Amino acid sequence: MAAIDTSRLSAVDRTARIGVIGATGAVGTVTLGLLAERGFENVRALASARSAGGRVNYGGDELRIEEASPELLAAGDLDLCLFSVGTSASRALVPHAAAGGAICIDKSSAYRLVDGYPLVVPEVNGARALEALERDRIVANPNCCTIPLTCVLKPLHDAVGIASVRISTYQSVSGAGAHRMTELEAEAAADHNLLMDWDWVGDESDEEAKLVAETRKIMELPDLPVSATCVRVPVLIGHSEAIWVELTESLSAEDAANILRGAPSVRVLDLPEFPTPQDATGIDEVLVGRIRRDPASERGLALFLSSDNLRKGAALNAIQIAELLLAGVAA
Ligand SMILES: NC(=O)c1ccc[n+]([C@@H]2O[C@H](COP(=O)([O-])OP(=O)(O)OC[C@H]3O[C@@H](n4cnc5c(N)ncnc54)[C@H](OP(=O)(O)O)[C@@H]3O)[C@@H](O)[C@H]2O)c1
Repeated sequence: MAAIDTSRLSAVDRTARIGVIGATGAVGTVTLGLLAERGFENVRALASARSAGGRVNYGGDELRIEEASPELLAAGDLDLCLFSVGTSASRALVPHAAAGGAICIDKSSAYRLVDGYPLVVPEVNGARALEALERDRIVANPNCCTIPLTCVLKPLHDAVGIASVRISTYQSVSGAGAHRMTELEAEAAADHNLLMDWDWVGDESDEEAKLVAETRKIMELPDLPVSATCVRVPVLIGHSEAIWVELTESLSAEDAANILRGAPSVRVLDLPEFPTPQDATGIDEVLVGRIRRDPASERGLALFLSSDNLRKGAALNAIQIAELLLAGVAA
C-alpha cells in the first residue's frame, strides 16, 4: 500500500466542525495548538465531566470545555472528532461520534489492531485512511514509537527490502500523560531512573507488543521478524529509538542516508550532529542519525532516531490523517 498521491487532493476544508476529545491532556493540548496554527476555524474542546465548564487556550482565544457525553457526540454537530482519551474511554465514546456522522481519528490502542480498521501513517500508507470513508469513518492512529519507526523503515523497504528489525526505545514521560510531566518537573532534584512502567503479558510488555504488531500491520508485512525492548527514560518530551535493520540486499550507510534524505517527514543528521529528544521537541520531522553499517550482521544497518511523541507521535499524525480525509481525493 502506497502513501497517498497528494497532488490528487483538493483543498482541506478549514471550516469543518471539529471536536478535540481529551482537550485537557498532553496530546489534546498539542492538538489544539496545531489546529489553531493550521487555521481551523470551528473547534470545540471536550473532556470528562471533571473538566467540563473550564477553559482551554485556542490560538490566543479561550474555548469552554464541554463534557464528551455519548449524546453530545451522537448529535450530528461534528464533522471530525480527534480522540485522545485512553483506550476504555475511546471504546465507550468513539462509536457514538461515528454514529453521529463524524470522521473519528482515535489515538488510543482501541482500534489499532482490529481487522478492518485502518492504522495510518500518511507518509507510509495514507491511502488506507480513505477506506474508513466507505465503512464507519473510524481511523486508528498508531503508537508514538511506531509512527517514527515506520517513517524510517518504509523508504528503506521500498529501496531494497527489509528482512528483520530490532529496536530499543528511550521513551519520555509525556508518553504516559500530562500528570507524569508534572511529576517529573516536581522531582527535578530527585534520583532519576530508567523505568519499564508497562503492563506485562508473559515476558513481553504491552508497549513492545504494540510496536511489533503495529509495525507489521502498517508496513503490510505480517511475518516481518521484529524484536523490541521499550524503556522509559527521565526525559520530558521526545521518544528516541536505536534501530538495527537487516536488509534483503546490501546497502551502504551512505546510500541509506541518501534514501532517507529524500523521505517525507524525515530529517537526516550527520555527525557531529545526532538526534536528541530536546532537538526533536516542537518540530514536525523525525530526526535520524548515526546511520552506519551494523558489524554484527552481513546486510545490517544501525540507526538512531528522535521524534516529538506529542506531535508526530500523536497529535500531528492524527491531524495529517484528518486533512487527507477532509480534502478527499479528486475524481
Ligand atoms: N502522550 C503520548 O505521547 C501519546 C502518544 C500517542 C498516543 N497517546 C494516547 O492518547 C491518549 C491520551 O493520552 P495523553 O497522554 O494525552 O493522556 P492525558 O494527558 O492523561 O489526558 C487524558 C485526556 O483524556 C480525557 N479523558 C479521560 N477519560 C475521559 C472520559 N471518560 N471522557 C472524556 N474525556 C476523558 C482527560 O480529561 P480530564 O482532564 O477531564 O480528565 C484528558 O483530557 C491515550 O490513549 C494515549 O495512549 C498518547
